[in-house]
Amino acid sequence: MPKPLYIDHQATTPVEKAVLEAMSPFWSENFGNPHSNGHVVGWQSNAEIEKAKQKVSRFIGASAGEIFFTSGATESNNLAAFSLSGLVRLSPNRKQILLSPIDHKCILNAGLFWADKFKLEVKFLKVDSEGYIDLDYLSESLKTPSLFCSIGYVNNEVGTIQDIKAISEIVRATGCLFHSDAAQAPKTIECDELAHFTDLLSFSGHKIGGPQGIGILYINANLQDSLTPLLHGGGQQNGFRSGTLPLALCVGAGRACELFTEPEALEKRQMTAKVRDYFYQRLLTLPSDISLNGPPTLERHVGNLNISFGGFDASELLMSLQPHVCASTGSACTSGEIEVSHVLSALGLSGDRSGSAIRFSFSHDIKIDEANQALQYLSDCLS
Ligand SMILES: Cc1ncc(COP(=O)(O)O)c(C=O)c1O
Repeated sequence: MPKPLYIDHQATTPVEKAVLEAMSPFWSENFGNPHSNGHVVGWQSNAEIEKAKQKVSRFIGASAGEIFFTSGATESNNLAAFSLSGLVRLSPNRKQILLSPIDHKCILNAGLFWADKFKLEVKFLKVDSEGYIDLDYLSESLKTPSLFCSIGYVNNEVGTIQDIKAISEIVRATGCLFHSDAAQAPKTIECDELAHFTDLLSFSGHKIGGPQGIGILYINANLQDSLTPLLHGGGQQNGFRSGTLPLALCVGAGRACELFTEPEALEKRQMTAKVRDYFYQRLLTLPSDISLNGPPTLERHVGNLNISFGGFDASELLMSLQPHVCASTGSACTSGEIEVSHVLSALGLSGDRSGSAIRFSFSHDIKIDEANQALQYLSDCLS
């Protein structure tokens, strides 16, 4: 069987070669527990964790003490909300939290659960038909004193890139804490000043050429005295997130972040956009009812295309592309019922248009030849 054409890089990315190389000594040669503070092997491991934190912090303009490792962006997003539980009591007049309707379920459901537990009101913000946050509505909503606002930087389904600076100014001017899920950002945009615009930030190793099973949470130093831990145990990571850190995965996450600070990162983004744009232009020549969901390609995530194929059911179309082409549908199957994408619904798309939408997500190493093969399979399935 020929190798499947993988056009699903917003679901997960392969581990970059440089990241694999950086990780390789830390499985069975330098394997020490970074929290063993009584011997040299532990000290060496601990020093590697610190180096990894330095790399992450340089990548977003933070300091190493503001970086916490987690198991992935799901945990980072949950921790972002729950770590502020102590502030609920300290700020009794701030009873509202704000969420973006197009964010990943792992921040939406964490926010809803947290709000329910601490009797906070949840307000969902508004987005326009391309997924951009309505800034007037955001300002209006903040007239009610708010504790926490979470808005994803780059959307995982339609690739919308928010004006994080403008949003940050509006939110933080009111004293509300600002969190952003930036899991999809590094592959498409510079993140070097991101920590200046946010109080908390989430990332995932496996979305950025790093390994699966590791995430990053940045927490502004000013907040750290009032944090509430979610995981209790041996007191690792300043008592904030107990548990032995996975040395090799932390090293991998650090190296993956460091790669974005190297000159090749820009070139890779340009190569990604080139193959994505080629694919889209060729797609438009197929005799099918094709519409692009979300912002124009020039404005969105360099690798993202979200396309509705009029008259087709996306899950069936994707199934008919197997085992040749891997992409995603936004729909989820919950207890046998197909649930349409909450992102496409928030953009105002009809059920038919959402139900026929497939997300293709490209990377720099997809060749034009491979894009042509994928187009051929698609054209066969559509005819
Ligand atoms: C924007 C965004 N946030 C969070 C997640 C969850 O990340 P993880 O798999 O690291 O828990 C994803 C994964 O799809 C995502 O795209």
